Amino acid sequence: MNKPFSRRDFLKRTAVVAAGALPLTNIEIAFGKNNPKNFNFAYISDSHITQIKGNKFVRNWDRGLIRAVAETNLLDPKPDFVFYGGDIAQLGKPAEIDHGLEILSGLNAKTHYVMGEHDYYVDLGDYWQKQLGADHYSFDHKGVHFVVLNSILTYEKWMHQKWDKGMDRMKQMARLDNPHGQPFMVGEAQRKWLQDDLSKISKDTPLVVFSHSPLQKIYKGWNFWTDDAEQVQALLKPFDKATVIYGHVHQIQYNQIGNISFNSAMATAWPWPYPKSYVQKDSYMPKLTVEMNRADPFFERDATGWQFINMHTGNVDLNYVLPDNTNRIVAFDSKAGHPADKDFQYKQTVAQDHY
Ligand SMILES: [Fe+2]
Ligand SMILES: [Fe+2]
Repeated sequence: MNKPFSRRDFLKRTAVVAAGALPLTNIEIAFGKNNPKNFNFAYISDSHITQIKGNKFVRNWDRGLIRAVAETNLLDPKPDFVFYGGDIAQLGKPAEIDHGLEILSGLNAKTHYVMGEHDYYVDLGDYWQKQLGADHYSFDHKGVHFVVLNSILTYEKWMHQKWDKGMDRMKQMARLDNPHGQPFMVGEAQRKWLQDDLSKISKDTPLVVFSHSPLQKIYKGWNFWTDDAEQVQALLKPFDKATVIYGHVHQIQYNQIGNISFNSAMATAWPWPYPKSYVQKDSYMPKLTVEMNRADPFFERDATGWQFINMHTGNVDLNYVLPDNTNRIVAFDSKAGHPADKDFQYKQTVAQDHY
């Protein structure tokens, strides 16, 4: 397996940071030598741009996204494209979406988008779609089939009930542990579309699916959950290898269910706490979960950031860039048959042995 970032690269990078220059200028991404199939792309997610009033926006969230854009533009080699994982806005206001897109327009590479619930529930995605186009689509790139799904839809009856204002609906959906909220779903129409889209693709084609919510059931109270996850997974099952990459959870997660690897993207805005709260009634981790990790739960910006994704031989390796903390690599471990953050997991085992 090719290791995308070597420890030496990290050290080199740390030295650059210490000298006060912007990080990432010196990162080398190693794929198989001269293999034309290899490529990398950048992933930025969950900026939650928040309007205070008029042209005043919450500075912290602005800065996270501005920094992600600046660093992505410094990548060498250049990413083939950038993927944005949803929740540009906090309350889906046109001013928030516009402000976020203005910052993202500074990217030097083509950017693909997926819709987040914070972009959607105020007007059911009207403004987002006006600015960015379809909420589900697919494309091919260097032998890989990419699918983008809108996974944050919900039951029609709830979505279209008589709300006084769209903002009431948004605020219900934006809250955690809300008994009046609803679970997310891809929905029947998109699943049909997906089935049709995938029927044209040979089963040995590497498949990458982008969604906002995890296409697996992790924790319902916080909507780390997609209600029809199993039905979507069933459509991915016939493929030799499928990878789902999602935002929304604002933390590092990875998992393996059968042929499908699941990897999350971090937020540029804030991290969510982690992970003991998942062990509750009515919540469960999928059976084949591998341990998830978070770098430092006591540091307010930790587990926020962005990552670079390397593809080779159809596997996806995620390089998490953690501001002011040790960077992480989650790579597919072909021996174990699932993604793993070996550095972290080995250390965890040793720590637990001594406890
Ligand atoms: Fe989010
Ligand atoms: Fe979200």
